[in-house]
Amino acid sequence: MILLSVFKSAWFHRTLSKGVGKRYKSADFEAATCFHDLRVPSCVKQVLNIGCGAGRNFRPYNFLYKLWGVDVVPYHRIKWVAPFSNLNYEQLSVEQLTEILHNDDIDLSKTLIISDCVLMHESETDQLRFYFEARKCGCRNFIFREPPPYKHPHRCFKLPLDEFTQPHYPNDTMTVYAHLEY
Ligand SMILES: C[S@@+](CC[C@H](N)C(=O)[O-])C[C@H]1O[C@@H](n2cnc3c(N)ncnc32)[C@H](O)[C@@H]1O
Repeated sequence: MILLSVFKSAWFHRTLSKGVGKRYKSADFEAATCFHDLRVPSCVKQVLNIGCGAGRNFRPYNFLYKLWGVDVVPYHRIKWVAPFSNLNYEQLSVEQLTEILHNDDIDLSKTLIISDCVLMHESETDQLRFYFEARKCGCRNFIFREPPPYKHPHRCFKLPLDEFTQPHYPNDTMTVYAHLEY
């Protein structure tokens, strides 16, 4: 009886960890569908990924665009999901990046800005400041994949909704907010 229960528990543990391993891998290594799917305007030459993590959402843009990744994690601690070509990484918070955009003369007119569950960590004021500074630098193209306000009233996307379309991804747990000028 004891042997049987030990066997059952080992089997249960193995099955459980197999599932977790699989989910973790696909969640961490594949880009979200919207980044594969949404057509990038032809003027875009660079993709700026704020809170880029290990870079999974760079995948659809690799080899096609200059990549600019920003995150709070030190460079040496990042295990990139792929050997990205043309990648410039800077250890910066969104708030620090906003200050740089405010103070420096940076042209973002040929840049697509993307985020995936990063703006949600910012207050409404900081989200707005970042967005308006990016627009002041000429950025006209954005894809934000973030939790919607009705799901997470505090940790969510807080930019003006009328500035964005919301392409529908029924299998996605997040909402996609896109502003693309073709
Ligand atoms: C949920 S993870 C998403 C990572 C990546 N976007 C992805 O989808 O794989 C959130 C990321 O945001 C980064 N992050 C959190 N707060 C940040 C901030 N204030 N400025 C920049 N990055 C931030 C974290 O270090 C982490 O890499």
